[in-house]
Amino acid sequence: MLSLPNGVRHVPGYFDREEQEALLTDIRQVAAEAPLYVPQMPRTGKSMSVRMTNCGALGWLTDKERGYRYQGTHPITGKRWPAIPERLLALWEQVSHYPHPPQACLVIFYDSSAKMGLHQDRDEEVFDAPVVSVSLGDACLFRVGGMSRSGKTVSFRLESGDLLVLGGEGRLRYHGVGRIYSGTCDLLKSGGRINLTLRRVTAPD
Ligand code: SIN
Ligand code: MN
Repeated sequence: MLSLPNGVRHVPGYFDREEQEALLTDIRQVAAEAPLYVPQMPRTGKSMSVRMTNCGALGWLTDKERGYRYQGTHPITGKRWPAIPERLLALWEQVSHYPHPPQACLVIFYDSSAKMGLHQDRDEEVFDAPVVSVSLGDACLFRVGGMSRSGKTVSFRLESGDLLVLGGEGRLRYHGVGRIYSGTCDLLKSGGRINLTLRRVTAPD
């Protein structure tokens, strides 16, 4: 059995198939109001291989001119992000051990060739709340390491319905998605993977 670094909690099959379908319905509703778009890397403007959208008071985004940041509106429609679905607020209550609600839920869509380089989640103003993440659709190879990019990493599969929590010592660990295992799940009719990431961005009042 693989042992995970401190502060990394992986719960395989946290959501059963019926719950995954319900989450997918919620996320389709979010994407209908706040369409998925291709984010750009800071400075170079290079397109990322994933598509993204958000729900919540704040959404994470990146573009050539202004880089990584949170903002309250969709970069293309200019509208406020839709609310975080109840089911995800309930998840946060169940697993975050944090006494205030999440402010941001980043929705990432990976097609079969998309990936995500090693990075830290550090655009938030506070790091005392965990990052709570849900995987839907095709499996991926997830990597998590230390507090520096060059640290040793461990790799494991995240499958549809899995929960991953990065909290405490895990909160600022480098992590990324090495590859998608295409055709491993039929939740999304045309394949691919969705990751949902709940975060607290600012300190509570
Ligand atoms: C991310 O760290 O931004 C995404 C992680 C994932 O897709 O599981
Ligand atoms: Mn991340």
